[in-house]
Formats: sequence, structure tokens, C-alpha cells
Amino acid sequence: MYRMIFGDSRKMELPSSSVHLIVTSPPYPMIKMWDRVFSQMDPKVGKLLTGADSDVRQAYGLMHKALGEVWCEACRLLVDGGIMCVNVGDATRSFNGEFRLFTNHARITEVCERLGFVSLPFILWKKPTNKPNAFLGSGFLPPNAYVTMDHEFILIFRKGGKRKFSEEGKASRRESTYTKKERDEWFSQTWTMRGVRQEAGLARRTAAFPEELAARLIRMFSCVGETVLDPFAGTGTTLKVAERLGRNPIGFEIDENLKAVVGEEGILV
Ligand SMILES: C[S@@+](CC[C@H](N)C(=O)[O-])C[C@H]1O[C@@H](n2cnc3c(N)ncnc32)[C@H](O)[C@@H]1O
Repeated sequence: MYRMIFGDSRKMELPSSSVHLIVTSPPYPMIKMWDRVFSQMDPKVGKLLTGADSDVRQAYGLMHKALGEVWCEACRLLVDGGIMCVNVGDATRSFNGEFRLFTNHARITEVCERLGFVSLPFILWKKPTNKPNAFLGSGFLPPNAYVTMDHEFILIFRKGGKRKFSEEGKASRRESTYTKKERDEWFSQTWTMRGVRQEAGLARRTAAFPEELAARLIRMFSCVGETVLDPFAGTGTTLKVAERLGRNPIGFEIDENLKAVVGEEGILV
């Protein structure tokens, strides 16, 4: 059974050191579709993005400040040695005709390290696309074009040193083994995987990640019977997969409209 809590994950009413793994994807700062949710978390963001007093750098900082509160809660909730996997993409956006790149992966890494997380090597998720390459710039003329962004990041952080296991924990760890073939593929740094086709309606607005991505991370970094949290649960991909893999899933989601897609508790199919 999964548990989905509709509320703001900057304050998660769960006991400290009760979560073994976090698999999540936050709203991406400076991607337009998430402006509303960041303005909801901090009304100053909306004002800073538009109008006479606009200040893009400050808006970007406040977006990461809001996410930082979630990373801080995440750190409190994880057991020692627990892992947090954060799928995020960088963003490009023009303001007043000026192009900017927002390196979300770098900012999240910086914030999490400041919170005391240990950074582990990240995964680059390559998303093949059927679209022809967008030559973003000036056609065939150097030097003003820039490369197409077709990768996202899966940042991996650990709370402190390696996990330690009791005798019971050792048994569930053995029950959770992966194969050599799986290990060789999953522990390589680039994963090529198609994104999820976004259907019309509510699910479209959540930018769900593929079940395969969640499944790999859950099997790489947690054992059967352990608690897996997604503080930005969206359509509940992490919860659904964690449940199927015999873990104990909990999700937080701020958008109550998603109750129509994921209930508050039950079995996700
Ligand atoms: C990128 S989506 C996650 C998609 C999810 N991985 C899936 O497969 O459906 C980010 C989600 O975080 C939610 N969200 C944003 N801010 C939040 C907050 N402070 N607390 C809880 N949920 C939040 C958004 O409403 C959105 O559904």
C-alpha cells in the first residue's frame, strides 16, 4: 500500500531517520511550466519574473531556496547512509531578448553539499528525440550557435557514510540483489531512455519520469521492505514502482488536482 499526502513537502510530518531512499524530480527552476508553483511557494518569485522590478537572478535564487527547504527536510528524514536521487534538467530562457542558461544541477548539488549530503557520481539521462536537432543560433555560421540540451541529470546524494545493516537487514539486502547484467548497465554513467509520452489532461502538467528510471534507482539503492519517499510525487510514478518492488512508498504532492490521478492511499496499478 502506498501513502500519498497532499501537502507542501517543505514540511513533511514524518519521523526523523524513517526513510531509506528518496527518488524524486522537483519542479525545474526557470522552466516556464513551473513558474506558478514557485510563485505559490514564494509570492515574491512571480513579481521578480515580470513587471518593472523584475530581477531574474533573484527569482532563480528564491526558487532554489524553496527547493532547499525540501532538501533539508529530506536530510532529516533519511536514515544514516540513506540515498537521495534527484532527477533535474538545466533550463534555458531568454529575458528581455537576452539568452540565459540556468544550471539547476549545479545549484542543487551546491545546496545539498552545504546541507551535509555527500555527493556521489551522477547519472546522465540521455533522452533520444525524434525531433531533428534544433540548431539554436545561426544555422551553419560560427560562432554563435549553442548545443542542444538532450540530457537530464540524476544527482545522487548520501547522508553521511555507507549504510550499516542489522542481521534482519542483511537478509532483506540479500533478497534484493540485482544481476551482473543489471549492475553493469545501471551503474554506468549514461542511461539512454525515452521520456514518458505526456498524455492530455492533468498528467501532462506533471512531467512524469519513466517507470524504468524509478525501478532502477529503487533496486540500486534500497532493499525489499524499506521506505521510499517522493517529496514531489506528481502522478505517483515512484510510489507505483516502489510498491510493485515490495518497498513501502510515501509521497507528498502540493497540487490537489492530482487527487484525480493518484488517490491518498491504496494500491497503484
Ligand atoms: C516534475 S513533477 C514530478 C513528476 C513525478 N516524478 C511523476 O512521475 O509524475 C514535480 C511535482 O512536484 C509538485 N510540487 C511542487 N512543489 C511542491 C511542494 N512544495 N510540495 C509538494 N509537491 C510539490 C508539483 O505539483 C509536481 O506535481
